[in-house]
Amino acid sequence: MTDIAARKHPASKTNWWRPASVWALYALGLAPAVWYFYLGATNQLGVDPVKTFEHVLGIWALRFILATLCITPLRDLADINLMRYRRALGLLGFYYVCFHFLVYLVLDQRMDISMVIEDIIKRPFITFGMMALVMLIPLAVTSNNWSIRTLKKGWILIHSFIYEITALATLHFAMSRKVIGPEIMLYIAIAVLLLGYRFARPAITERKRARKKAARMRKGTK
Ligand code: HEM
Repeated sequence: MTDIAARKHPASKTNWWRPASVWALYALGLAPAVWYFYLGATNQLGVDPVKTFEHVLGIWALRFILATLCITPLRDLADINLMRYRRALGLLGFYYVCFHFLVYLVLDQRMDISMVIEDIIKRPFITFGMMALVMLIPLAVTSNNWSIRTLKKGWILIHSFIYEITALATLHFAMSRKVIGPEIMLYIAIAVLLLGYRFARPAITERKRARKKAARMRKGTK
């Protein structure tokens, strides 16, 4: 682009890093999966490599899902706008859930579909995990500008299910372990805070709007 064109559209020169930073997030976000895959392939994942691989992928899935939910409160409460990363975080969460499920299906259950179905029916924590995965699919499929434009209010409705999905995923995690230790407690606390924010948000944003309006009026009368 010439200097004249850049001067006409200053944003084009200064904002190049925005899409680049989103792609960097995808690359960084997928790095743990590649790293643990490498460790698994080179026999460095301990005595039960399949379980370890399955577990780390599950943990990263939950981390990305929770990180996606942090974006709105960060903007509302701390004026930190990371909105442009929300889609990437959500999709990374979905990719990790898929990897986690694939490891379970292929390496853990050795593609024995009848065993998988039995597991889903008989073990409530697997039932919750499966429900979360199935519910994530429409969100992942509609995570694009075309769907936002086409579905309008329907898109908001589909994506509002992220709260139910988070609750199911956290429950799945808590029930997968025999002992509720400090790690699980931390994830549960973060999930409860983020889900609670959903209900507190209308009152918080209303109060913020009223404060801004009052400040504008004070400025106007000076
Ligand atoms: C949103 C969806 C899901 C999330 C966020 C998720 C996350 C997790 C997490 C965090 C763990 C515990 C890891 C640890 O103990 O360190 C776990 C364990 C597990 N998950 Fe998932 N999971 C999901 C869906 C699924 C699905 C669909 C299946 C299979 C149908 C599944 C099967 C398992 C199994 C077998 C374990 C290990 C239990 C054991 O220790 O034996 N998960 N998951």
